Amino acid sequence: MRVYPPPPITFPPAWHWFVDELLPSYVKKHYSPKEAWKEKPFGETDARFFFRGIEELSELFTDERSGHVPPYFKHPRFRSSYLLYFIPLQAAKFITLFQLHAKAMAAALSHARISGKLKIVDLGAGPATASLAFLIWFLNQPETEGISLEWDGFDTEAGILKDGKQLIELVASQFPKLRNKIQARTHTVSWWDAPGILNGENSLILMGNVLNEMPQNPRAEENQFHGFKKLFTKMNGGGCLIVEPASRSSSQLLSQLRNSFFEHSLLPASPTSLWGPCLHAEKCPLSFGKDWCHFSVPVDIPGKWFKKFSKALSSERQWVKFSYVWIASKDYPAPLTANTSRRVISDPLSVGKKNKIVLLCEPEQPKRLEIPVQIQIRRGDLLSGDHPTSQENFRR
Ligand SMILES: C[S@@+](CC[C@H](N)C(=O)[O-])C[C@H]1O[C@@H](n2cnc3c(N)ncnc32)[C@H](O)[C@@H]1O
Repeated sequence: MRVYPPPPITFPPAWHWFVDELLPSYVKKHYSPKEAWKEKPFGETDARFFFRGIEELSELFTDERSGHVPPYFKHPRFRSSYLLYFIPLQAAKFITLFQLHAKAMAAALSHARISGKLKIVDLGAGPATASLAFLIWFLNQPETEGISLEWDGFDTEAGILKDGKQLIELVASQFPKLRNKIQARTHTVSWWDAPGILNGENSLILMGNVLNEMPQNPRAEENQFHGFKKLFTKMNGGGCLIVEPASRSSSQLLSQLRNSFFEHSLLPASPTSLWGPCLHAEKCPLSFGKDWCHFSVPVDIPGKWFKKFSKALSSERQWVKFSYVWIASKDYPAPLTANTSRRVISDPLSVGKKNKIVLLCEPEQPKRLEIPVQIQIRRGDLLSGDHPTSQENFRR
């Protein structure tokens, strides 16, 4: 039996400039209450001033939500807080996932090389967090000459979407690899209307932290279902990455949605329909009940101001935590893994003197696996090799 932990996560050089220079100077210029402050460098006084909004927004995000989320992005106070603190936090999750699933990203690039156009769609984009992470990742990629980018951002809040577009253009203007090579468009509509607006096929569709904000009523669920159905017909290259918070409610919502894609044949019932985290296309074993499918990856998010804000929130982070599903496109299916491979979906549950137990992902029911204590194993690792499975017909 072999355990494959995730690769160490690194941050491209542009990340440091992005979080420590671009974001603070943008916020200062666009959100300072006094004209005289706007052109001066971001300093400790600014950090104290903007931290109040960060603290308030952080409380709003950590409260257990009951399907109703106030329209926080209508307030400049919360837009600026999100730009300063939540962009680095959420973008780090995308940077992590881009490295965990390097082959999905290679599929996005490969699709772009055919037409010379890399088409990125960001649904519920907010300040284009996921797309900004994408650009920072892209800057570090070899063999991208001749590729130009198109970006379509969708959100119901025009103000934050405008910030997102401006940030995309500012990042692009800074690097020869992107300068004059991005066409950015915003659409102030619900994300499920995107397929009617999008032209042709897209290289990568990103959706971060949106579904947990959807009202839970039959009408919204219907819109969502039909939105995905049409969206999947516009998906190519690296497919569609959906990231949600690591909380039980968000994660189980995502698992149930993933199940429904297969139950209603929106996706072929094959493991090749998903880049991850699942290795099978049958029912998720954690879509209901006390456990849920989420991941925590050891990552130290770089950023001077980010670290200061995290400390002030008593929330210093050595991990990034999230739930996700990454759907593969028809033309670039995910590769099959060995039929004995399993995803570890819990941290060690009980540690005895000699053995510990982890949950493995299997259709319908997780499998409890007892392993010797000396084997290093964590949630999210891939396990491969011979071990007894409860479902001998689960082979690929
Ligand atoms: C937590 S923010 C996430 C922003 C960004 N995707 C990120 O990961 O940082 C959620 C975003 O979803 C947007 N949103 C909520 N309902 C939406 C809908 N029906 N259609 C499009 N956007 C929506 C909100 O306006 C907000 O910008």
